[in-house]
Amino acid sequence: METTSLEWTPRSWRNFPVAQSPTWPDLEHLERVEHQLANKPPLVFAGEARRLQEHLALVASGKAFLLQAGDCAESFEESSADTIRDKLKVILQMAVALTYAAGVPVIKVGRIAGQFAKPRSDGFEERDGVRLEAFRGHIVNSDEFTAEARRPDPERLLAAYHQSVSTLNLLRAFTTGGFADLSRVHAWNQEFVANSLEGKRYEVIADEIERALQFMKACGIDMHDDSALQSVDFYTSHEALILPYEQALTRQDSLTGDWYDCSAHLLWIGDRTRQLDGAHVNFLRGVSNPLGLKVGPTMGVDELRRLVDVLNPDNRPGRLTLIARMGHERVSELLPPLVEALRDDGRHELWACDPMHGNTFVASGGQKTRRFDDVLSETSQFFLLHQALGTWPGGLHVELTGDDVTECLGGGSRLDEADLSHNYTSICDPRLNATQSLDLAFHVAEYLQRYSTPIGERSL
Ligand code: PEP
Ligand code: CO
Repeated sequence: METTSLEWTPRSWRNFPVAQSPTWPDLEHLERVEHQLANKPPLVFAGEARRLQEHLALVASGKAFLLQAGDCAESFEESSADTIRDKLKVILQMAVALTYAAGVPVIKVGRIAGQFAKPRSDGFEERDGVRLEAFRGHIVNSDEFTAEARRPDPERLLAAYHQSVSTLNLLRAFTTGGFADLSRVHAWNQEFVANSLEGKRYEVIADEIERALQFMKACGIDMHDDSALQSVDFYTSHEALILPYEQALTRQDSLTGDWYDCSAHLLWIGDRTRQLDGAHVNFLRGVSNPLGLKVGPTMGVDELRRLVDVLNPDNRPGRLTLIARMGHERVSELLPPLVEALRDDGRHELWACDPMHGNTFVASGGQKTRRFDDVLSETSQFFLLHQALGTWPGGLHVELTGDDVTECLGGGSRLDEADLSHNYTSICDPRLNATQSLDLAFHVAEYLQRYSTPIGERSL
């Protein structure tokens, strides 16, 4: 049954198969928690989600660039103010590098304040002959390898909500309370980054920005009057995987009567839960937030067209971001037919590049990792193919942290396999550390410079 064949309600997804669902041992307990969550305040407001969609509409028309970044999976054990601040710092630094070098506004969206749930390719994990339910993210179970820890626990939905509340509270304070003020552009460079090549390159830009601000001040422009210089719009996003949680936070907007999933500004559908006749597509088609859809190597042209019809039937610019994650070996073969088809259909979807999820492998020491060069290769091919097709390479979607971790190989810090064990703290996929992130941003800024004229003024 197609998900459009029934009238949509916040609970209509329950009539469709739910891929990647944990096996909750006590459904009554889950229901009690859903009821509690449904009575909690929303995390974000409908008006904010609409504002993000307006910003993404600019991306769709080639006038802005989307930077979506953060953890693979947020952890209940790692939620200190310093961790959140450092993640924000590196995202702000990347945005500065992109904006300054390429002259395009950057729309900043974190994989944060709700990015707790993980789809798994195998529902079970086996170690030394012991087979347990896979770790599905801290919103479901614990990453420890014991039967007790792996049992899905609905109380974790409430814990995820509360951690999202405090993370978002801090983000709102940081982004509006002076920390993100452009005159503090130097302060975002962390000590360990500042000594690297990337950090020094960043300092050059920061100096120039500072000089430009001083110049404006000397001309009599009152910087305290300009909120664009003093605060940033920073949005939240996560994969909408655990539908009981998402449904409980879905509210009807009193202004428009539309439904919004108020757990984050943007929600995306993962590559493993994008079935046309599945619960996730059914749920998300009915909420009015801007949406993301992961587009992996098995996506066909017809399937993509049908998904786009279901998720964005009115062809609204900014409504749907297609996040391609093909892998560096196949992106140039698999992505162009999809981009071309939607271009020829006159669709307003925007394309972002996730150069992480198609480039993961297991190192000889057993850790999951990614090569910086593969990440860079997929990204540069993404830009090249869009250039060839006359379409806008709208954004970058990456897994990163502000810490000095050793999870991905190569990059400015030239990490090799022997380094991986030094500081590997991700509870799921390997993330770029702060210098690798900045390194990537400088490369992307160079690719973006080729597109410095708005798409409308380019010959297509
Ligand atoms: C993710 O973004 O963390 C993820 C699991 O991605 P995908 O659905 O593309 O595999
Ligand atoms: Co991931």
